[in-house]
Formats: sequence, structure tokens, C-alpha cells
Amino acid sequence: MADEECDYLFKTVLVGDSAVGKSNLLSRLAKDEFHLDTKPTIGVEFAYRNTKLGDKTIKAQIWDTAGQERFRAITSSYYRGALGAMLVYDITRNGTFENTRKWLRELREFGNPDMVIVLLGNKSDLVDLREVEVEDGQKLAQQENLCFMETSAKENLNVEDAFLQMITKIY
Ligand code: GTP
Ligand code: MG
Repeated sequence: MADEECDYLFKTVLVGDSAVGKSNLLSRLAKDEFHLDTKPTIGVEFAYRNTKLGDKTIKAQIWDTAGQERFRAITSSYYRGALGAMLVYDITRNGTFENTRKWLRELREFGNPDMVIVLLGNKSDLVDLREVEVEDGQKLAQQENLCFMETSAKENLNVEDAFLQMITKIY
């Protein structure tokens, strides 16, 4: 869709540790695709996703960057102008959940103070490998005043819902 056909253009960003599934959440949202073996992102990528809310068309530009520090591009430009953020951890790796505090600090340092942040516990399909309980995610979200959902980019669970929740809140 051309820019002139949409009513609003929002910039949103994905953040979180390496291999939590950011790029697969992006490909799910933008192309409805999932890939089992994805390489770590280097630098910055982005894609678009259109959403209809009532009679308005919202075009979201979704930015994705490397979770690995050495592959990251300049942080301040990544966050500039972003109205929403999806902060992602992997429910099968507790360390990625602990690091969400670090990502939150970065979001709050570089991001717009009004930025809508949704906390996503991804890989909810891997129940047998779970290290982070649903309640842990809920509790953090409550403390930090974030929306929260568990998602699976693989099984396409809650990905749309989480994204819609963010877009609706921005709008
Ligand atoms: P960086 O680019 O290094 O920051 O990583 P990333 O957060 O973009 O992770 P990526 O999307 O590349 O996914 C890492 C691995 O996790 C890949 O092998 C994916 O197939 C897998 N993966 C992503 N989402 C899911 C999910 O919901 N369920 C399962 N089972 N695997 C997933
Ligand atoms: Mg990636």
C-alpha cells in the first residue's frame, strides 16, 4: 500500500536478547512466515504491517535489530520517533527474562516517554522447556506498567493480538 493511502504511520521497534525470536515475530507480522533456522540479525532491518482500526488504516513500520551487542547499530537512531516497542524474552531461558530490565532501562533512556511497551514471553509452544512462569511475566508487567502476553512466532499464537494491542494503545 502506498503511503498516501494510509491514515497514520507509526514507527515501532523490537528489542530483547539474541535468539528470543524478534526477527521471526517480525516475519510473522509482515509476511506470515516462520523460519526454524534464522541467523542473528546484523545491524537494523524493518518491514511494514498494515492494520485496519475502524475506518482508518494504520501502517506500522516495525524495526528489528540485533540482540547481540556487537551487531547493533547506533542505539539512539533506532529508538528515535518510535511510538511502540515489543520487548521480547524467551520463556525457555531465564537469563533473557532477567535481561528485560536492562532493555527497559534502554527503552526509557532513548525512547519517547509515552512509548507503549508490550512485554512478550515468546516460544510459548516449548512448554516442556519452560523456565519462566506466566506469573513472572505478569508480575513484571504489572510493576512496570506494561502490557503482557506470551506468544509463539512458530505456532502463530497471540502474535496478532499482541501487535493489535500495541497499535490500539498507540492510536
Ligand atoms: P537476534 O537477531 O540475534 O537478536 O535474534 P532474534 O531475537 O531475532 O531471534 P530469531 O528470530 O532469529 O530466532 C532465534 C531462533 O529461535 C530461531 O531458530 C527461530 O526459529 C527460533 N524461534 C523463534 N520464535 C520461536 C517460537 O515461537 N517457538 C520456537 N519453538 N522457536 C522459535
Ligand atoms: Mg534477529
